[in-house]
Amino acid sequence: MTTIPLQRSGYPVSRLVLGCMGLGGGWNNEPFAAEHVKQAHEAMEAALDSGINMFDHANIYTWGKAEQVFGEVLKEKPQLRERIFIQSKCGIRFAEGDIPGRYDFSEPHILASVDGILSRLGVDYLDFLLLHRPDPLMEPDEVASAIHQLKASGKVRAFGVSNMSAGQIRLLQASCDEPFIINQLEMSLAKIDWLDAGVHVNQAAAATDIFPEGTMEFCRLENIQIQAWGPLAQGIFSGRSTHDQPESIQATAAVVQQMAEEKNTTPEAIILAWLMKHPAGIQPVIGTVNPARIRACGDAVNVTLSREEWFRLYVSSRGRALP
Ligand SMILES: NC(=O)c1ccc[n+]([C@@H]2O[C@H](COP(=O)([O-])OP(=O)(O)OC[C@H]3O[C@@H](n4cnc5c(N)ncnc54)[C@H](OP(=O)(O)O)[C@@H]3O)[C@@H](O)[C@H]2O)c1
Repeated sequence: MTTIPLQRSGYPVSRLVLGCMGLGGGWNNEPFAAEHVKQAHEAMEAALDSGINMFDHANIYTWGKAEQVFGEVLKEKPQLRERIFIQSKCGIRFAEGDIPGRYDFSEPHILASVDGILSRLGVDYLDFLLLHRPDPLMEPDEVASAIHQLKASGKVRAFGVSNMSAGQIRLLQASCDEPFIINQLEMSLAKIDWLDAGVHVNQAAAATDIFPEGTMEFCRLENIQIQAWGPLAQGIFSGRSTHDQPESIQATAAVVQQMAEEKNTTPEAIILAWLMKHPAGIQPVIGTVNPARIRACGDAVNVTLSREEWFRLYVSSRGRALP
């Protein structure tokens, strides 16, 4: 298995990350219950058993409860903290009264968010903090000042971004000594604009591409870890009903199933291995909290796809031939 950018930067992280957005119960201010802590226990155990040592949070997930239930598990198993990598995100704010939902990369908001994250998780430091979605009002100097303080205080070890283009990362990086080493983007066998933007260069089809050109290349050149959120495409290639999906997705789900049978593995492992074959060294952030599905994902690290198999899946999902 290829070495990925985070590993090259000195972090012995697993190829897969467990996304914790599904932990903690509902997106509301009802308190979490014992069953949600049990669910977190089981999900974390399944992840660790599958060789996953990295966990993805955000301060907004289930209104903070995802971090709280994770913190409850760490309280019961404090020895875990040093064995795992915890990542969280900040910068998205919910609507309050007549103030709409918004983004906030102001220095006080970033600093206060990290204090909230650490307290909900019950830990002294975060391994990685990501800026969740680009704030149109971001002031790079202000972001840099917050990052400087978080690093100096030991509250955060390293930094990254999410949902950002190359240009946006460059803008922030120009003011900040601390490197941004992660960019988390939506990518899967269903969400393939990150590939289409590359193959459509100089083609009429490029007119409808929405993926910011040059972002994949920039991250590769700068050793920035690309993480894929939504990598399971909500299960549409691995068992969820596809009857309401376009024909190309239904056909691709059948190819995935066939490859899984041929390789004696799971459909989840096929679609994750497909992402991981990309030379950027993508780290899928799997969002399932179902222990059996987490284990089904774990086998991805043992699956090798040939070039032909990789293109068969890509072209099938596109639903049309390459230019
Ligand atoms: N940076 C960002 O802006 C951003 C945005 C969204 C998410 N994320 C992160 O990325 C992680 C993954 O994203 P995601 O949850 O959107 O995507 P995902 O991994 O593609 O999908 C996970 C969801 O699909 C369901 N699922 C998977 N296989 C299924 C099947 N065979 N049948 C029925 N349901 C199935 C899971 O339910 P079960 O739990 O029941 O398996 C879960 O709700 C999140 O946990 C979060 O950490 C980041």
